[in-house]
Amino acid sequence: MAPSSFPTIRPRRLRYNPIVRGLVRETTLTVDDLILPLFVCPGQGVKKEIASMPGNFQLSVDRLLDEVGSAVDLGIRSFIFFGIPTHKDASGSSAWADDGIIQQALRALRTAFQDQVLLITDECFCEYTDHGHCGILTDHNGRLDVDNDLTLPNLAKQCVSHVRAGADLVAPSGMMDGMVRAIRQGLDEAGFPRLPIMSYAAKYASGFYGPFRDAAESPPSFGDRSSYQMDPANSDEALREVALDLAEGADIIMVKPAMAYGDIIRRVKDRFEVPVAAYNVSGEFAMVKAAAAKGWIDERRVALEILTGIKRAGADMILTYFAKDAARWLK
Ligand code: PBG
Repeated sequence: MAPSSFPTIRPRRLRYNPIVRGLVRETTLTVDDLILPLFVCPGQGVKKEIASMPGNFQLSVDRLLDEVGSAVDLGIRSFIFFGIPTHKDASGSSAWADDGIIQQALRALRTAFQDQVLLITDECFCEYTDHGHCGILTDHNGRLDVDNDLTLPNLAKQCVSHVRAGADLVAPSGMMDGMVRAIRQGLDEAGFPRLPIMSYAAKYASGFYGPFRDAAESPPSFGDRSSYQMDPANSDEALREVALDLAEGADIIMVKPAMAYGDIIRRVKDRFEVPVAAYNVSGEFAMVKAAAAKGWIDERRVALEILTGIKRAGADMILTYFAKDAARWLK
């Protein structure tokens, strides 16, 4: 018997041939994994590029139809919508108005695309309140803060209104305690027990949302969101949040942001074995675009590496502003 040469185990044996590399590849990214976020604004013929998010726009309903159409042509089927309303007030009441901006968009999209598309709605009030916080404010010992329990019925109203207008799936993002239960009850009572909820269960108070707040015109007018969104330093707490939302009836769990939170995605996946979404947020997108514009990184390679990394961490689906680019690259 010939003496075996050292090293006996050579991991590189599986790396020489690209076809072998394909056979042993553990993670596959496809267009079916991607959800494209879009921003809807009032008016006609409006397509206003968001400076910090190249290739993303504030779109009036007519232009939104074109944008969804071009994404559908690339194979994208899932969309999440954010509204920029004409009218803002203290409670964010235009969020549940029958003729609200998202409601108008949903009706137009449903008519134009029928069942070709999945229409997801972000359920929150920061875009609709005049103070930019994610719910109703009340005075807590001299300090204004979002009132958790007063905000819950409004969330249920917003969701029911969106579903009546054509939403297929609702995604509450305000990090209110009990929001999933309130929404589940509201939907069930309104006759929508089959409508799934994707909960932004582990949403962190993050600096990576900066460009989004320009896009959605939703920055808080004072203070920050640390009294409702999670501390980036915490991980066990994310598991408690997820456990609560699942007990309240969440069907899909979201972790947000994604890139600096791969460990959270993995812990949630391992612990709960439920469908997990990850939100590759605006700041994560903007950093790649900015570095690529300077010629410092290869945009396509880096973006696909990030999206693959998010899937490898345990995400089943990714909300990403790269959805259209990725769909083209993956073709
Ligand atoms: C809240 C909401 C935010 C994002 C999605 N939903 C902003 C926030 O919490 O301040 C951020 C998404 C992104 O940065 O891409 N309605």
